[in-house]
Amino acid sequence: MSIQIFPSILSADFANLQAAAESVGSADWLHVDVMDNHFVPNLTLGVPVVESLAKVAAQPLDCHLMIEDPDRWAPAYVDAGAASVTFHVEACQAPVRLARELRAMGARAGMALKPATPIEPYEDLLADLDMVLLMTVEPGFGGQQFLDLCLPKIARARTMLDRRGGDIWLQLDGGVSAETIERCAEAGADTFVAGSAVFGANDPDAAVAKLRALAEKASSAGG
Ligand code: DX5
Ligand code: ZN
Repeated sequence: MSIQIFPSILSADFANLQAAAESVGSADWLHVDVMDNHFVPNLTLGVPVVESLAKVAAQPLDCHLMIEDPDRWAPAYVDAGAASVTFHVEACQAPVRLARELRAMGARAGMALKPATPIEPYEDLLADLDMVLLMTVEPGFGGQQFLDLCLPKIARARTMLDRRGGDIWLQLDGGVSAETIERCAEAGADTFVAGSAVFGANDPDAAVAKLRALAEKASSAGG
């Protein structure tokens, strides 16, 4: 299980996203939060911004769609240049069909769950997914406090993924910081989104390196 750090540009300067991407050169991917003011009470960016960012960012883009009707809108993000697209299962009408469509277009398919959504009903969908995203805050805003109540679900998801085998990434998003990442890695997550902990730091790339080192250590200690 290799640790990956995905800085969330939600906490970066929206007037200069190219500079934000360049400031985290050691990051594996960039996490791009798309919000529609309906699925969550916040509005961010859409296809045109993803298209522009994909042209200038060295890292591949991981689009997290916090929107209603992802069945209709998600494929456009692959066309815009996203290498991974994650939809919320709470908003999706046909998750199997959508995941297969995203993969057929050449992208990685991710399924996101809010803190109160259980993972168990979706076990059979894993064959069609490349990533499971467990939200560790209620989606909508950066800078919220990590919800420790999510830790048992992370551990259950890890067990479920290990039972299946394969290489599905287990991503966490919300409140990931130097203070919380170790217990997240111990619980079994391998892919970490961090917004305020990276772009709120004086040296964002050093923050990425620190988060990675903490997670790697905790993950190897946990076996
Ligand atoms: C929140 C977004 C996150 C957000 C995380 O709904 O999905 O990606 O940027 O921000 P932090 O890391 O500050 O909690
Ligand atoms: Zn996100």
